[in-house]
Formats: sequence, C-alpha cells, structure tokens
Amino acid sequence: MKAVVIDRYGDNSVIGIRDLPSPVPGAEDVLIRVHAASINPVDWKIRQGMTRILTGSKFPKVLGSECSGEIIETGAKVTGLRVGDRVIGFSGIRRLAAFAEHVVVSQKNAFPMSGNISFEEASTLPVAGLTALQSLQKLGHISPDSNVLINGGSGGVGTFAIQIAKIFGARITAVASRPNAPLLKELGADVTLDYRQEDFTKSSERYDIVFDAVSTRSFSECRRVMTPEGVYVNTLPTPSVLLYQYGIGFLMKKKARSVMVSPNSVDMQWMRQQIEAGRIRVVIDRVYPLDQAAEALAYSEAGHARGKVVLTVPGP
Ligand SMILES: NC(=O)c1ccc[n+]([C@@H]2O[C@H](COP(=O)([O-])OP(=O)(O)OC[C@H]3O[C@@H](n4cnc5c(N)ncnc54)[C@H](OP(=O)(O)O)[C@@H]3O)[C@@H](O)[C@H]2O)c1
Repeated sequence: MKAVVIDRYGDNSVIGIRDLPSPVPGAEDVLIRVHAASINPVDWKIRQGMTRILTGSKFPKVLGSECSGEIIETGAKVTGLRVGDRVIGFSGIRRLAAFAEHVVVSQKNAFPMSGNISFEEASTLPVAGLTALQSLQKLGHISPDSNVLINGGSGGVGTFAIQIAKIFGARITAVASRPNAPLLKELGADVTLDYRQEDFTKSSERYDIVFDAVSTRSFSECRRVMTPEGVYVNTLPTPSVLLYQYGIGFLMKKKARSVMVSPNSVDMQWMRQQIEAGRIRVVIDRVYPLDQAAEALAYSEAGHARGKVVLTVPGP
C-alpha cells in the first residue's frame, strides 16, 4: 500500500511516498481502507521532531492521525463494527499512520459515519472538530450568557469553534486577518477583529471565555480582557498554563486551561448530529491527493489555511 513516510525528522524534504506492507489489525483493532485523511498542524510538528518526546525515534514513520474510510478487516475481539462499515478513524500521535491507503485503529477510536457527510468532511472531526467542542464545552463551560472571544477563528479549529459557540447561543468575537472577516461573519461571529490592526488584549470588552485556538497570545496578556471568573483556553500546553491548570490555579478566580483533544463517541455523535442538522458546516480550504502530502503540509505550515486541508486517497 502507498503511504506518506519519514525516515528522520526534518523539513518537508524528508517526506517520501512509499509502498509498504498493509498493517495487520490486533484483536481489538479494525483495518480501514482510507478515503480521506485530514492535515493538522501537529503533522508538520511531528515531521519537524517537535513532538519526539511522544513520537520517539523509531523510523520509518507513516504520518497522519485521523482519517475516514471503510473497514476492510476486523480483529477477533471487535464487536459492533463490521467489514464494509464507513467509519471515522483516530490513530492519534502515538500510533499515527493515517496518511496511507490502509490504517489500523483501535475499535474504540473508530466512529460510525452518518449518511450525508462526505469522507473529506468526516476526516476532520476527531482533531479540529473535537478540539473546538471540548475547549468551549468542557474547559470553557460555555452557556447562552457567555461572551466568547475566538482567536484564530478562520483556521481548522477556529471555524468549528465559531459555529459551536453559536449553537450554544453565545456572543462571539472572532479574530483573524481582514480578508477572512466575511468568513467569520458567515460562520456566526457577531464581531470580527483584524489582528494586524487591532490588539484584542487592549480592548475595553470583557470576555467569559478567551479561546486562543492558534495559541498566539498568553494567559497573562489575555487576563485583562477576561471577566472576573473568565476562562482562558489555549491549544498548546505551555508550562505557565499547566501550572495554573494543575497547580496554583485554584487560588485564582480567572482560570487558564490547555486543551488536549480526546476523541470519544459522545462528542463525535454530537458533532455528526450538528452537521446532519446543518448547524455546522466543515470548512474545507484545499484538498490534495495523498501523493501531494508534502505540498499539503507546506500549505498548512505557512499558517494561513482557511478551515481544513484534506488528503484524498484514490480507490484501488
Ligand atoms: N491540543 C490539542 O489537542 C490540539 C488539537 C488541535 C490543534 N491544536 C493546535 O491548535 C493550533 C491551531 O490549529 P488549527 O488547525 O486551527 O491551525 P490552522 O488551521 O493552521 O490555523 C490557521 C489560521 O490561523 C490564523 N492565524 C494565523 N496567525 C494568526 C494570529 N496571529 N492571530 C489570529 N489568527 C491567526 C490564520 O488566519 P489568517 O490567514 O487570517 O492570518 C489561519 O486561518 C495549532 O497550533 C495546533 O497544533 C492542538
């Protein structure tokens, strides 16, 4: 099978497309024939070696942590999933290997796909979709009364976050560069800010949740614009936020949290229901064939994707 492989950490030149043996599922795994796989910034961070403490130094590595496709084999102890089922698969950053024609995922990380969602759309839900949901719901405790700021509203996580905040009935200020303001509005933002012209941390507005989807502003910068019991949530665990989250945070009313996405069937079902009901649309910026994974990663790494970047895998 064809796969996107690295033999060492480095820039995009380390990426190769190679033929590898198809992986073999364990007893509680399923083997998926991949139709689409979503690119996330973590993929080029892994390629660079920024996550080596988690991803180790064993090569070759097949990149990619989420995909959609159909089950072509099940392990002996798999229940509730069958060959032919269309599923969304999350292999995560330890197991990886989703940028390939076939991938093995644990049965608990294979989620049924619904009828009216494309493989491209479905492949984006476990990481970007659930990061947005878990940040706002579990960490931010969003409610209809919440005044929410979403920094990086036009990115993979941010485009989901605006729509999710809208579903919860919150008032939304979304931050991106000026050309993306119409997209932010269309997704549900009440107010848009251009980060090149305005610094939201200097605003007179006060927010119950500052969701820094692109993690460009620190908790200390954002504190001033938070309500007395406001929550700051970012997507990159920094030592200072972890200190607040797990250490001294209980001493303060304003909270700081880092999200670590954890796909689960309840949240996946909620996302699917919102998409089926037309309350969330998956914003897909670019689609590349699997053998152009290096170009897709370079585009993501440039930092200005509008929504998601997706790889498609041609059928056999
Ligand atoms: N912890 C977790 O579990 C987890 C899960 C998912 C993602 N993440 C992390 O979350 C971050 C965002 O992911 P993503 O997929 O949303 O990234 P992304 O799609 O690459 O984000 C791109 C967007 O960021 C915007 N942007 C760039 N610079 C900005 C700035 N200074 N201020 C505001 N917006 C800016 C861009 O808007 P313009 O083009 O208008 O500049 C663009 O639309 C990444 O660091 C990723 O690794 C973490």
